[in-house]
Amino acid sequence: MLKVINVVGARPNFMKVAPVVEAMRRRAREFRPLVVHTGQHYDALMSDAFFRDLGMPEPDVHLGVGSGSHARQTAAVLEAFEPVVERERPDWVVVVGDVNSTLACALVCSKLLVRVAHVEAGLRSRDRRMPEEINRLLTDQLSDLLLTPSADADRNLLAEGIPAERIRLVGNVMIDSLLKQLERAASSRVREELGVAGRDYAVLTLHRPSNVDDAETLGRIITALERVAARLPVVFPAHPRTVKMLDATGLRERAARALRLTEPLGYLDFLRLYSGARLVLTDSGGIQEETTALGIPCLTLRENTERPVTIELGTNRLVGTDPARIVEEAARALDSDPQTTPPRVPPLWDGRAADRILDAIIEKTNHAD
Ligand code: UD1
Repeated sequence: MLKVINVVGARPNFMKVAPVVEAMRRRAREFRPLVVHTGQHYDALMSDAFFRDLGMPEPDVHLGVGSGSHARQTAAVLEAFEPVVERERPDWVVVVGDVNSTLACALVCSKLLVRVAHVEAGLRSRDRRMPEEINRLLTDQLSDLLLTPSADADRNLLAEGIPAERIRLVGNVMIDSLLKQLERAASSRVREELGVAGRDYAVLTLHRPSNVDDAETLGRIITALERVAARLPVVFPAHPRTVKMLDATGLRERAARALRLTEPLGYLDFLRLYSGARLVLTDSGGIQEETTALGIPCLTLRENTERPVTIELGTNRLVGTDPARIVEEAARALDSDPQTTPPRVPPLWDGRAADRILDAIIEKTNHAD
């Protein structure tokens, strides 16, 4: 039986780890899963709500690192995670995504000679100004098993000289959570509570430092959104970092006047909200994938994406932060007929990635022993 530590740190990790832990609990003869929460995200709305919505067990260990500069936060995870690995001596540590906790935990394991599996390996934006890109590159270098969501990720890893034996295409585990929770989400009353039930509306999320930490960029984006909001309600569940920046830049009043500003939503409420939207505007990585899986038009307010398959096959369009471009692309999406045919979904985004991840871990263990 394999003892596996599953690491979660920040909001986008929870929906990737939940199906893996659930599959390990189901396959209890093969796996003994532990969950370690680094505490990178700690607010009830950024963390606890997701454990509840996704039916995740309480973390076995909570490191409580909290917020800080990149160096401080990463260092705090390094320092707190090392004794946990030394004490538990797991066979594998599973890390997901590209947040600071992901890299820090992979680094701890590589020095302690504990095997690491990286879920969502191989994604590249080729923009090293993004902290996540550094986390992706380094985590992939350090990991023993690279579990990729799409074929472009395999190609990226091979081009970086990573041997094919370390790479396994397993599909997108976030879609396991999405498909599993879709029905439960139908009982959420969030559309009614926000006054958008039965009508056209858009959903916005915004939290990338490159968009929200610079007053001028944030102002340009708000200008574009004011114009989109003249056509249909735009619901904006705002990340704490963004709220802080709206306050600091004096833009909060304008945002609150034009947009339906709400607190961050839990997994089920947010799924219910965007699954009924006419249009999604976002700078998140995961939401580009979730909208593709459901066939909801998505405009990504960034210059690049590490998820090109959502553009090639899916509903995503990169529109940057130029207000004229955002308004024009939003109009184009709103003027076209809503999609009635089933969405084109990338291969292996089928709700069964978690079992493929577990199979790959077992195979790699047997192969190495
Ligand atoms: C992190 C990830 C990012 C991911 C995002 C999703 C990194 C480098 N970034 O960015 O990839 O897309 O999570 O949300 O790991 N804060 C709170 N409460 C919380 C958490 C954060 O108030 O529970 C505030 C704090 O002021 C903090 C700021 O948000 O300083 C930023 O949090 P942090 O974890 O540093 O990065 P995110 O912007 O959330």
